[in-house]
Amino acid sequence: MTDTFRFRPATADNAAFLDELTVEAFNWAPDRAELTLEQIRADASLAKYLAPWPAAGEFGVVAESLAGDPAGAAWLRYFPASSPGYGYVAEDVPELTLAVVPDWRGMGLGRLLLSELAAASRTAGIARISLSVERANHAAKLYAAAGYEVVGGDADADTMVLTL
Ligand SMILES: CC(C)(COP(=O)(O)OP(=O)(O)OC[C@H]1O[C@@H](n2cnc3c(N)ncnc32)[C@H](O)[C@@H]1OP(=O)(O)O)[C@@H](O)C(=O)NCCC(=O)NCCS
Repeated sequence: MTDTFRFRPATADNAAFLDELTVEAFNWAPDRAELTLEQIRADASLAKYLAPWPAAGEFGVVAESLAGDPAGAAWLRYFPASSPGYGYVAEDVPELTLAVVPDWRGMGLGRLLLSELAAASRTAGIARISLSVERANHAAKLYAAAGYEVVGGDADADTMVLTL
């Protein structure tokens, strides 16, 4: 599978693609009314996940097909205690977003992106990565298999942390 995709750093040129994937991440549940990019932009608790990208210290990995089409990404954002993300644990722990373009799902790319991002994070000296995932999302199992551990949450969602 690694020879099906190329991985490269997520730069400011990828901001619109990351926004598109953020919409996918908020709309993971097929039985729920889909949020549009405009609706996400209009909600302060969601809009913080959108561009501008990247802020200081933020980075990520974009996967593209061998034909050059963007296929997915995993990236890290920092949030302050005054405006925490859903997976917030501390100001120095960045929060992960992961999504794969629908046509490229179920081919192992999500797993590869998590592993590429963990490697890049280790190189960057990051000690921990956090995330929030609704328990009903199959992504929760993917995170557990990649070493993320549940550290908190609420009735529907887990906060998970990977210690690098
Ligand atoms: C979650 C997501 C990134 C997974 O990406 P993917 O490339 O399809 O995942 P992979 O092919 O690497 O599969 C990873 C594991 O999930 C399982 N899986 C994949 N799709 C599945 C599905 N629809 N239902 C249940 N399990 C599924 C695979 O079987 C695999 O597990 P295994 O190795 O034990 O067999 C992708 O489904 C996605 O973009 N979803 C919408 C955005 C989202 O929910 N992001 C996470 C928000 S917290």
